[in-house]
Amino acid sequence: MPDIIPPHGEATGSAARTELARVQARAEVDRLWAAGRDFLGCEAAILGGAMSWVSERNLTAAISNAGGFGVLACGSMGPDLLEREIAATQALTQRPFGVNLITMHPQIDDLIRVTVAAGINHVVLAGGIPSGSAVRAVKDRGAKLVCFSPALVLAKRLVRSGADALVIEGSEAGGHIGPVSLTVLAQEILPHVRDVPVFVAGGLGRGEAVLAYLEMGAAGAQLGTRFAAAVESIAHPRFKEAFVRASARDAIPSIQLDPRFPVIPVRGLANDGTKRFLEHQAETLRRFQDGELTKETAQLAIEHFWAGALRRAVIDGDIEQGSVMAGQSVGLVTSVMPVAEIIGEIVEQAVSALVARHMIATQR
Ligand SMILES: Cc1cc2nc3c(=O)[nH]c(=O)nc-3n(C[C@H](O)[C@H](O)[C@H](O)COP(=O)(O)O)c2cc1C
Repeated sequence: MPDIIPPHGEATGSAARTELARVQARAEVDRLWAAGRDFLGCEAAILGGAMSWVSERNLTAAISNAGGFGVLACGSMGPDLLEREIAATQALTQRPFGVNLITMHPQIDDLIRVTVAAGINHVVLAGGIPSGSAVRAVKDRGAKLVCFSPALVLAKRLVRSGADALVIEGSEAGGHIGPVSLTVLAQEILPHVRDVPVFVAGGLGRGEAVLAYLEMGAAGAQLGTRFAAAVESIAHPRFKEAFVRASARDAIPSIQLDPRFPVIPVRGLANDGTKRFLEHQAETLRRFQDGELTKETAQLAIEHFWAGALRRAVIDGDIEQGSVMAGQSVGLVTSVMPVAEIIGEIVEQAVSALVARHMIATQR
């Protein structure tokens, strides 16, 4: 039988070469996301996208403690509750984390005030283009402003008006979504916005994809769906199990039956609730056509259908009638993992992709 074990020196040499390639690849990933790491003040430029009900103290602190950047979701909390949640998060981590506020919240100015007064340096304004006064309220208090941009013109305008960083979120994402995929948004925006870090979001679940966007000029990545199913997420076990079971194709955007009655697109797992929503729209339309409802009351009836539904799914575990918001990346959730393992896996996949590329290049 031929001796297939290489001589000792050769094995050591090849192991040493692989190890060196790994060290260099890790340094390359760090170089690629240096602007994101500097901006966020963390080891891995991976943001835990804010998720209402899910991104509370435990998940936010776990992401920051694992070397990423947690973002607390304010959702519909008032200023007092938010102040308490920030303090509770600070008790769980010494590391920086951000706070995500919804621009149309009626108390947005007070929310910004308590957030920055609590020592938070990164304010994410989501759910629409922020008003000039909201931008000033963040910047005048010395905090960094992060905004979402759904198109290049808006990205440029947001940077001119004071955004210190942008998130571009593709329609693959979970939760409220825009119409354009990350693949296209990244090509539209990344080559043209170089003055501020741009983070990519939507559909990301593996390090190879994150690496590809870093190489296109992104400063880092924001993930939601994978973290929602993490061990540290307070989401109900049934919510996490639904994520483990689901395929990418199960995460669908909400469907609008009639253009006269707009439905805000939200991506989530198809369930009884999504079926009933179609029936509810059809019934509401019939009542409008029969003159039973005015246009305004019909629109409100459609909007109210999902009120409280995310909480029902996340907290109560009602994954049939609740809103199980999830991105297409749900297909990449294969088990409930600790946050540190999720972040470690993504970094490892990016590093391995670079090592493999290096090995192929040096074998030529
Ligand atoms: C359950 C859930 C709730 C979310 N809630 C919010 C929110 O309150 N505010 C926000 O800006 N984005 C929200 N998002 C979007 C995430 O912050 C993140 O950008 C998105 O999940 C990234 O795409 P991915 O799900 O493919 O990782 C939510 C996403 C999910 C899955």
